[in-house]
Amino acid sequence: MAGRIPQQFIDELMTRIDIVEVIDARVPLRKAGRDYMACCPFHDEKSPSFSVSQQKQFYYCFGCGAHGTALGFLMEYEHLDFVEAVHELAGQAGLQVPVQAGRDAPPVSKDLYGLLEQAANFYTRQLRESRHAQRAGDYLKQRGLSAAIIERYAIGFAAPGWDNLLQFLSAGNTTLQAQLAKAGMLIEKDGGGYYDRFRDRIMFPIRDQRGRVIGFGGRVLGDETPKYLNSPETPLFHKGRELYGLYEARKATRVLERLLVVEGYMDVVALAQHGIHYAVATLGTATTRDHAERLFRITPTLLFCFDGDRAGREAAWRALENVLPVMHEGRQAHFLFLPDGEDPDSMVRKEGSAAFEARMTQASSFSTFFYDNLMKKTDISSLDGRARLVELARPLLSNLSEGVFRHMMLARLGELVRMEPGQLTKMLKQVESGPKRAGEKPKIQARRARPESRAAKSPVRMAIALLLQQPRLALQAGDLNRFAGFQVPGIELLVSLLQQLQSQPQLNSGALLERWRGTEDGHHLMRLAQEQHLLPEENWEAEFCGALDNLYAQGIEQRKENLLNKSHIGELTPAEKLELQGLFSLQNGGRSS
Ligand code: UTP
Ligand code: MN
Repeated sequence: MAGRIPQQFIDELMTRIDIVEVIDARVPLRKAGRDYMACCPFHDEKSPSFSVSQQKQFYYCFGCGAHGTALGFLMEYEHLDFVEAVHELAGQAGLQVPVQAGRDAPPVSKDLYGLLEQAANFYTRQLRESRHAQRAGDYLKQRGLSAAIIERYAIGFAAPGWDNLLQFLSAGNTTLQAQLAKAGMLIEKDGGGYYDRFRDRIMFPIRDQRGRVIGFGGRVLGDETPKYLNSPETPLFHKGRELYGLYEARKATRVLERLLVVEGYMDVVALAQHGIHYAVATLGTATTRDHAERLFRITPTLLFCFDGDRAGREAAWRALENVLPVMHEGRQAHFLFLPDGEDPDSMVRKEGSAAFEARMTQASSFSTFFYDNLMKKTDISSLDGRARLVELARPLLSNLSEGVFRHMMLARLGELVRMEPGQLTKMLKQVESGPKRAGEKPKIQARRARPESRAAKSPVRMAIALLLQQPRLALQAGDLNRFAGFQVPGIELLVSLLQQLQSQPQLNSGALLERWRGTEDGHHLMRLAQEQHLLPEENWEAEFCGALDNLYAQGIEQRKENLLNKSHIGELTPAEKLELQGLFSLQNGGRSS
């Protein structure tokens, strides 16, 4: 966690580096007005909507909403964890990351990628050269894989034995062995030493979006269990985020009109061999929200393919639930069910790609699958049944973000239960803001706070937004004690920002954002940092001071009201009485002068 690297160092790092340089080295940027632009590296697009602000040390994509600091960019773009990203940035800035006493292993270097690439090469060579190559080759032939597809997916073979990879990549070198273990390729023995994780298996390298090997899936050649063994979670490999075949699919087609999400390695490979190059597989898990978000950044249309049996339908419903929160207009999800006992691999081999693609056109739309499935649990020919359908749909629909898609889902429900969509909308609203137990957080609303930003901005928001734009404004804020005791939402965050900046005026916005990484407030800050300020720069200072004055006035008003209320019930202490008099004369004095 972030705790191990001193905050001071992160501050220094963030003020030393320049986000424009960091990103430009990976995604060439073009200057456009005050900011820099490029085609977004996180979703597929033809015209640039990815902008980098040097002033804010912040990037933001208007297309897909990706955003963050230079550190966040490295984490996302190079799939690094926080500590790795800090090391990478520090390396570029010529800074030495201070080592704090602790039992943390040294951070992984970029070399993990190199090691996994070497492992993949070793496995592909083993498929030709090992003593057991014949058996492995026969297996792949029997599964119908062509030489071309084996090469395209770099499918390989881990020969039987406990130390083939270990000997080849790290004989006698314990540092390398530790690295390989960290990358998931070796397992540490109880008594010390290591052995190969993958033995006597067909090997499928899993690549990240840039094509670097980050893990493997390995299949047995016979009936042993487990049938598939996947890399464990490692600094490079996170099962719930990665998709097998995504890199290959993007390489095959520049603009993907749709992506087909299947369950197995073999499915992806068999489909590609039959010319369907846009299939990806989750790695032995249900489709997560992360997966869906990632895929929707690449294409607007997702097709989920499942077995037609009960397990398949249940898996499809789980996928639907996870996709739901990221659905909105322009995005489509379809659900395709294959006949019982078939998977995409067996199906496409049996009937060919044309017939398989024809099936896709028959896939259920999101709303059809959604309502069909719920209607299995209730009979809508009766009034009770229709009421129950509304109850079943309600918690799910309230996860949808406001907009056309939600509206259409409600309209469909309205048709089914013979109610006006307007009435349904009202009912949904009631649940969201409705009966809340004391102290309970309004979860649903919190998750969907984005569209509010157009509303008139409170002085607090205004001041914070301007600070993120130009942290030096903090020096104009004057004495912060005058805000003490104010009860205005966000005031604590604002005062804390001002305090930090007044003691360290050299901090830039990137450094500030990093200080709040991973917190609720950090979330708000990120959102405010995304806003574009149309005001000319020379007005910022006046605007900022104006916002603080408004805030002060608002606080005073509030304090006065509190004291007045107290005085009505005769609870004012002598000191408070004085304060109240002071507040009145302050205001009257202000007016008469
Ligand atoms: P399946 O059992 O449906 O296998 O697992 P499959 O893809 O049809 O494989 P073949 O055709 O028998 O070779 C689907 C996916 O679930 C994960 C793998 O990602 C697999 O591709 N899985 C399955 C595991 O992770 N471990 C297992 O033991 C089995
Ligand atoms: Mn199969």
